[in-house]
Amino acid sequence: MTYIVTPWKVSGDLDYDKIVKDFGLDIISENLLARIEKHAGELHPLLKRKVFFAHRDLDWILDEYEKDHRFFLYTGRGPSGQTHLGHMIPWFLTKWLQDKFGAELWFQMTDDEKFVFKDGLTLEQTKKLAYENALDVIALGFDEKKTKIFLDTEYAKTLYPQALKVAKRLTFSTAKATFGFSNESNVGEIFFTSVQSVPAFLPSVLKGKNIPCLIPHAVDQDPHFRVARDILPKLGYYKPASIQNKMLPGLKGGKMSASDEGSAVYTTDSPDTAKKRLMNSFTGGRDSIKEQREKGANYSICPIYYHYQQLFMPNDNALANLEQECKGGSILCGECKQRLAERVGKFLVEHQRKREKAKSQLEKFLVRD
Ligand code: TRP
Repeated sequence: MTYIVTPWKVSGDLDYDKIVKDFGLDIISENLLARIEKHAGELHPLLKRKVFFAHRDLDWILDEYEKDHRFFLYTGRGPSGQTHLGHMIPWFLTKWLQDKFGAELWFQMTDDEKFVFKDGLTLEQTKKLAYENALDVIALGFDEKKTKIFLDTEYAKTLYPQALKVAKRLTFSTAKATFGFSNESNVGEIFFTSVQSVPAFLPSVLKGKNIPCLIPHAVDQDPHFRVARDILPKLGYYKPASIQNKMLPGLKGGKMSASDEGSAVYTTDSPDTAKKRLMNSFTGGRDSIKEQREKGANYSICPIYYHYQQLFMPNDNALANLEQECKGGSILCGECKQRLAERVGKFLVEHQRKREKAKSQLEKFLVRD
């Protein structure tokens, strides 16, 4: 089976080696990791574990940084629902990069995108969700002096003239080939990528000088930035660089789907709800206890294992031990899920406390025009 990875649909068998080839990405090499470590003093677990696995021009970002030419960070969120754990993977690394490299962050909330792409969502709803999602961003502890969050519809006076410059260089046939649009696609969809490319050069416009841009994002967003990398140099700006993560697998065994409620843990779930979702998860377990004790489970296909690997096991040795227990059949899936549910529950309580506090900080982060 093959795969589909576009910003609006991810399905099939995600063979990341193939994605790297098909998209023309570069793998994050050991040498590149060593360069990051040299500057940061350590490596983030998401880098060590290769959750962030591919990039474009990250070596150039470091070259410039070493010449004291600092980059800014850009990432974003399409507010179509509450935030789930998978959405936060790029944000975790972004926060770390901001701390370690002292970088400014521009965070785009694409309320326009989710309105034009999703049946049944009004602009009022996507806007409201953008505000909800912004609380999750702020809760991660971004520096209020170095972070700007904006909704496309509330920052349109600044964004729109820049989006037009991109749109003028982008043909329908390129948009079609890149994103798979058809003649039935609405024209808002076709225009949208122009808006998503703007924050990659907006700080350069506003400061009147070219500033390198690094975009941490999930690999499904790469098509947008392929277009941006093609067009921005024609407008006199740098190609944006990126660092890209794998998708967090959904709990139902298929791929994570924002619209399929049971397939993810949301930041607004109570620990009990999260536990229910996790306990109901598909795993790499065998058909019988006997078989599992003998053969061990198949952790390489297990979404529960991936949740540990990616997010909830800061300690590398503890993760390696779990892997051994799982492979060796000494732990069964029920217990493993139980342990994960405990960790997730603790995370949620703490995150929700910070999320509450973020309500009073919101205005310090938001920019409008
Ligand atoms: N289109 C993204 C989504 O649906 C949101 C987004 C906007 C984004 N700008 C970005 C994501 C930059 C990553 C990087 O979630």
